[in-house]
Formats: sequence, C-alpha cells, structure tokens
Amino acid sequence: MCIFAFKPNQTVKRTRLAVFCSGAGSNFKVLFQKAKEKKLPFEFIVCVSNNSQCGAMQFAREQGIHTIHLSSKTHPDPKEFNRALISKLSELQIDLILLAGYMKKITPELVKEFPKRILNIHPSLLPKFGGEGLYGLKVHEAVISAGEKESGATVHFVDNDYDTGEIILQEKVNVELTDTPESLAERVLKVEHRIYIQALEKVTLHQ
Ligand code: GRF
Repeated sequence: MCIFAFKPNQTVKRTRLAVFCSGAGSNFKVLFQKAKEKKLPFEFIVCVSNNSQCGAMQFAREQGIHTIHLSSKTHPDPKEFNRALISKLSELQIDLILLAGYMKKITPELVKEFPKRILNIHPSLLPKFGGEGLYGLKVHEAVISAGEKESGATVHFVDNDYDTGEIILQEKVNVELTDTPESLAERVLKVEHRIYIQALEKVTLHQ
C-alpha cells in the first residue's frame, strides 16, 4: 500500500482512496478538506455511490473527482454488481476504501479483495449500538432509549459483518438529559469529522 517518510527529496507514494457514500457526504467533504489543509499524501480518486444525486456525489463532481454510480437498478444481479465494482476499483488502482455513510452492505468478495483496507465510521461507541438496522438517527434513538450516559463515534476496519471489524479509533460524547436523537447526532457528527482523518492517518502514515 503506502509507506511514508517525510524526508526531503524522497518520493512519497500517495494513497489512492475510494470513498463510498449514499448521503450528504459531510465526512467525505471534511476528509477531503483536511487532507488538503494538512498536505497529506492522499489522493481522492473516486466517489462510489448507489445514489447518483446525493450530496457526496455532487461534491465529487464539483471537485473533479471521478464518480461511479452502481446500484441494484444499474446492476440488478448482485454478482454482476460485485464484479463491476471490483473491476473498477482495480482499474483505478485503489489502495484503501473509506465508507462514509454508505448504505449498502459490503460483500465478502470485496472484503477479500481489500483485507484490512476498508474503513467505516459509525456514530456510536462500538460494539454498542452497531449491527444491522442501526444506522443514522436510529442509532441515537436507541442510545437515548437505553438511558446511556455516553455515546460517541468509532472508526473501524470492515469485516464480513455489520460494524464488527477491529476498532481503529473512537471518541466519547456525553449524552445530556435534554438530548434528542437529532441533537446527539449533531454532536457525534462533529466528533466523526475529527476522528476519521486521524484514523486514516493512523492506518497509513504511522504503520
Ligand atoms: C455518519 O453519521 C456516519 O457515521 C454514518 O453515516 C453518516 C454519514 O453522514 N455511517 P455524512 O453523509 O458523512 O454526512
């Protein structure tokens, strides 16, 4: 993949990133901006989405980043979907995949192709409040209903199950008595924006 040492006159191999999104893409935008500000050796090669009109895809187009729209409409056969996705990613020589609000399950074939090279961000303190059906506001509703005193965000490697892969980084957020799912989501999202880039640096630059 990518080993870096910031010594003058030394060639640095830039990590070629694919970001998978289905929604607003705020994590993608922040990752892109922070990588630019900090002059990190990352190259945002492609945004993959099942929703061609989502905020993340619009942002990618504005930035001149390649986009790939793949969905059950474009590829009704899941095997074909997988084949198309894997062949595109290998054509683009992707080193690392970042899931940022991607609403489709990652297949075992993709995990096998990218072992420990797919990262996800989840808006809870995993292993708590993860798993199938726990996404978006549902996570924060569950946290509040359970009377939790703290929640947070987690960046982890993706394995063959939902939200179960090895944890790379997590940060806590206090749950206030007055919190609604929306207010908690807002504070957790701020943390997500801080830790995703840190986790990315951790797995690439500091290996
Ligand atoms: C984030 O809360 C992330 O943890 C979850 O999906 C949401 C995506 O938000 N996996 P955005 O599209 O990055 O704004």
